[in-house]
Amino acid sequence: GKSWIDMKNLTKEMIGLEVLIRGRVNTNRPVSSKLGFMTLRQTGGEVSVQCVGIASEEMKVSVKMIRFMKQLSCESFVDVIGVVALPKDPVIGTTQEVEIQVRKVFCVDRVKEEKLPLNVEDAARSKADIQAGKPGANQDTRLNNRVIDLRTPANQAIFRIQSHVQMAFRELLASKDFIEIHTPKLMAGSSEGGSAVFRLDYKGQSACLAQSPQLHKQMAICGDLRRVFEVGPVFRAEDSFTHRHLCEFVGLDVEMDINKHYSELMDLVDELFVCIFTKLNERCSKELEAVRNQFPFQPLKFLPKTLRLTFAEGIEMLKEAGEEVDPLKDLNTESERKLGQLVLEKYNTEFYILHRYPLAARPFYTMPCADNADYSNSFDVFIRGEEIISGAQRVHIPELLEERAKEIGIDVTAISTYINSFRYGAPPHGGFGVGLERVVMLFCALDNIRKTSLFPRDPQRLAP
Ligand code: 4AD
Repeated sequence: GKSWIDMKNLTKEMIGLEVLIRGRVNTNRPVSSKLGFMTLRQTGGEVSVQCVGIASEEMKVSVKMIRFMKQLSCESFVDVIGVVALPKDPVIGTTQEVEIQVRKVFCVDRVKEEKLPLNVEDAARSKADIQAGKPGANQDTRLNNRVIDLRTPANQAIFRIQSHVQMAFRELLASKDFIEIHTPKLMAGSSEGGSAVFRLDYKGQSACLAQSPQLHKQMAICGDLRRVFEVGPVFRAEDSFTHRHLCEFVGLDVEMDINKHYSELMDLVDELFVCIFTKLNERCSKELEAVRNQFPFQPLKFLPKTLRLTFAEGIEMLKEAGEEVDPLKDLNTESERKLGQLVLEKYNTEFYILHRYPLAARPFYTMPCADNADYSNSFDVFIRGEEIISGAQRVHIPELLEERAKEIGIDVTAISTYINSFRYGAPPHGGFGVGLERVVMLFCALDNIRKTSLFPRDPQRLAP
């Protein structure tokens, strides 16, 4: 008739009380036939407690029960009934200041494997630990055994931080009258063009997995939804195996009507991300600490009002620093990183917006600048020298849209319903797309996007 209490609520005030707790066996150290120590943990070791088993008449604990406790394998789930007590010696490696003197132990789920393919402790090692000679686990072993890998404190923290990014994103947009939508992921034509498209058979018709919500979020604007956002999967048949590309990632997308200028979009990016970063620092200090313990990093430097530079200004800065860059072509990864460094030195921020990109570097739906069609009403946003967002005002004039698509070699018949949407009247509008995994990766200065994807999909990985 006992009910379970949460391990995190075990405090000194409860000394002398009999409690029932459930946890995962973290360590199990038999000392003698009459004595054993077992530690239990929850949520990646965020909470852990020591359980002491002493065979004694007084506690009604038999030698047989100590034997049973000793053979409980690590990572098994157990229930323990015991009395809350103050440990004789301070316990090292558990979070709770009290211990449990065991009365009864029940096995809830036993790990039967002789040896696990990944050891949680090895997965939790920092680079410094490994350099100091402690065993570590490589990334592939970790990802192949992701369910065990996820049990480390840093991973527990990463996915909470990720959840907070989404919450803050939703909260701010909802407060500004945006509505959350879901666009189809099965499409007749590709949304971004290029080769990174997963093609599939849709009951005899050729189809694609959506490379972004781009076309349908714009069509929602044509349908007078005015301000929309989406949190959903984005599919890219990437060929390149890099630290920042996945074949499936989570896109945070925004689309809205604009009155005068694409700066309205950048105003929103500014407010949204200053809010997200501030909330992360406020709400996730414990989680950030847990990530930092395994993967050390410096807090992100950002300004209360986000810096905006034009692409031309960026090119100037790079040229002054002796870089060779083409003013009408997109920056490559190296130049982006270099510019990030220059911006940090000059403006003391690791978060900034670069806008007015060359038109040739942008997708077909991007609005050219009214004063110079070599440039476009578009922007990218960077954290620590790497792109997390791209956005723009869109072409809402169907003739121009069709012409731009054809120029780039897009099959317009496959997206005719999209182009036709603009023939029935559409407001000037724009939006942006954010890569969720990249935001978390770069906020925490992690070296690989696979660390911030729960079950990453890359050119070589379709499982687990
Ligand atoms: O720059 P992208 O391709 O832009 C779009 O999809 C536009 N429809 C957005 C818009 O509204 N104009 O993708 C947007 C963001 C990138 O800035 C990046 O953060 C992320 O999505 N991203 C990826 N993340 C992980 N793996 C990949 N392969 C990614 N490709 C893009």
